[in-house]
Amino acid sequence: MLRSKDLLGLRNTGADEIREILDTAKIMKQVIASNNKKTPHLQGKSVITVFYENSTRTRLSFELACKYLSGTASGMTASASSVAKGETLIDTARTLDVMGTDVMILRHPMTGAPHLMAKHVRASVINAGDGTNEHPTQALLDMFSMEERFGSLEGLRVAIVGDVTHSRVARSNIYGLGKMGAKVVVAGPATLMPVEVESLGCEATCRVDDAIRGADVVMGLRIQLERQKKGLFPSVREYHKFFGLTEERIALARKDALVMHPGPINRGVEIASDVADGPQSVIDGQVTNGVAVRMALLYLLTRTRAEAGV
Ligand code: CP
Repeated sequence: MLRSKDLLGLRNTGADEIREILDTAKIMKQVIASNNKKTPHLQGKSVITVFYENSTRTRLSFELACKYLSGTASGMTASASSVAKGETLIDTARTLDVMGTDVMILRHPMTGAPHLMAKHVRASVINAGDGTNEHPTQALLDMFSMEERFGSLEGLRVAIVGDVTHSRVARSNIYGLGKMGAKVVVAGPATLMPVEVESLGCEATCRVDDAIRGADVVMGLRIQLERQKKGLFPSVREYHKFFGLTEERIALARKDALVMHPGPINRGVEIASDVADGPQSVIDGQVTNGVAVRMALLYLLTRTRAEAGV
């Protein structure tokens, strides 16, 4: 049983709760793989995706997850809603709440926006990415993908490479993987490395090769040009040369290491095309697992205490 009505981040989510989500996602993955992708777990429940930033994977996988579980899914794009007329986040949230929404899934450029929303609504709120803070469901699907391959997260060495400063994916993975017993090393240019990153619970280096050497998992991060000031690295070409995931660099990792990326990818910038499409890449599998993890989460957040047996 999850302790909160909301999933706002992995920083404050227990290892036992992460375990429950990952175990439930295993069952949901069997549903996705079957000929009849329909279960009654969310029958009579409604889910709204509320997106103030663009998305393909997160938004559509939540909407599909809801539909596969027989719930009612709707979506709101902020720029095409009354937000464009000046409506505040809290007024928007209250409006959706009184429509009888059971779960609101929010992506917002401001750190803490889902936390603010959660305080003002009866519905469960899921953070689908808030500024540079957290993207918990991405980290959950990443952990699910690693566990699927290696059987356990305990003791894995995970190298996370790229624009760490602007990456909510990196933060959620650092929190989540640490709780599940994996060791995280982050690497990237000093200009894209947060000060005191090690206080989050990981090692940090500017030498990408050192981070990748012997790793079980190598995760590339998207260069987030939309959040960056100018001048954080000399050029895209040089970034790729010194920090990009190339075949030569991946050869430093374990032979059976997984190559991961949350997507969307900038081919030839943070990752070479032959690596993204290569035999070690599980980037497509991550997307499939995203649906399973989000199905699990929607189910766990909407079931009653009686259904959970507590
Ligand atoms: N990984 C991820 O969050 O992708 P989208 O922006 O497409 O949702």
